[in-house]
Amino acid sequence: MIKTKITEMFGIKYPIVSAPMGPFYTTELTIAVAEAGGLGTLSHVTLMGKNSVTDMKAQLEHVLEHTDKPFGVNIRTARVQTDHKILLNQIAKWRKDNPKLREQLIYGVTSAGGSRTASKIWKKKAPDLHHFHVAPALWLVDKVVAAGCDGIVATGTEGGGHQSYEGISTLVLIQQVAQKYPEKPLIACGGFATPEGVASGLAMGADAVAMGTRFIASNQSEFHPNYKALIPPATARDTLLTTGGFGPIRLLKNKYCLEHGKVISKEEKIKQELAYDLDGFLEDLHKYMIVYTEGDVENGAIPVGQTVGLIDSLMDVDDIITSFTKEAESILKNLCSKIS
Ligand SMILES: Cc1cc2nc3c(=O)[nH]c(=O)nc-3n(C[C@H](O)[C@H](O)[C@H](O)COP(=O)(O)O)c2cc1C
Repeated sequence: MIKTKITEMFGIKYPIVSAPMGPFYTTELTIAVAEAGGLGTLSHVTLMGKNSVTDMKAQLEHVLEHTDKPFGVNIRTARVQTDHKILLNQIAKWRKDNPKLREQLIYGVTSAGGSRTASKIWKKKAPDLHHFHVAPALWLVDKVVAAGCDGIVATGTEGGGHQSYEGISTLVLIQQVAQKYPEKPLIACGGFATPEGVASGLAMGADAVAMGTRFIASNQSEFHPNYKALIPPATARDTLLTTGGFGPIRLLKNKYCLEHGKVISKEEKIKQELAYDLDGFLEDLHKYMIVYTEGDVENGAIPVGQTVGLIDSLMDVDDIITSFTKEAESILKNLCSKIS
């Protein structure tokens, strides 16, 4: 058994978290991860705020019906994510009104924008919800700590999907954060997809490891079979950073990715956001959804991490969580045994 600040804080058996992966649903995945003894995370699936509240409520209710274990939810606080404040408030209200939700939904992770407003809302209206924020660089971790968040998810540039302009590797970032904030609960994310990864994340000072791509390639995730099938044969060289809705995004190289294969500068991105074009945004969202729902792996966008180079088969979620933790334990014990 590995006991860490995260396993203690959330009352979970294993120090493994499933990363949020909006705009796709990770509802079944969250249930499977929770049941296996890890911490599953629901994704923020709506980009435009349309049906956002009813959709999120339905997801939460579905999870409550299928597991009695703790789980989490992601809210993206990006400027263009116009529904984030209403969702932060609604989640606090739903927890207040529903004791089962309050007992189980104990992890709220915000990302892709600022952490201050979310921290203010949740500290006031849901003080027992453990609020973490995703940060891709130490100076941004400083802001998360200053905002009063309960913990940090530090994500390096090798990770899949939403990325930042920072370009810091997980290897450097986790050590920096663990050295500067040794008391803060820390989840390491980006580049983890093996037992060795779990062991190294813990050795660097993290209290748990979050994985995205590894869980897409599981039998329980609700991603289209064509999407999952691309992961085992892919190599670590097969991804590219390109421009997504909130900034850089890491995608698997395909027709869509190569046509959009350019990270525009932060200044250009802000200009683009100011000239906000709803039709353009919806068209782009459609390019993400056609892979997920229809399996159109040529014309759609396929977010994955460099971890595709570490994954060679689909696995059961339960197996990922239990076997990775057990093997990580023996890796760490084996290392200790070499010390005389
Ligand atoms: C398909 C996909 C969608 C993602 N969507 C989100 C999201 O909505 N919010 C978020 O904070 N991160 C998102 N991410 C990033 C993940 O939460 C996580 O940082 C990343 O998957 C870690 O790298 P890995 O996939 O190599 O494990 C996404 C990643 C993927 C692969």
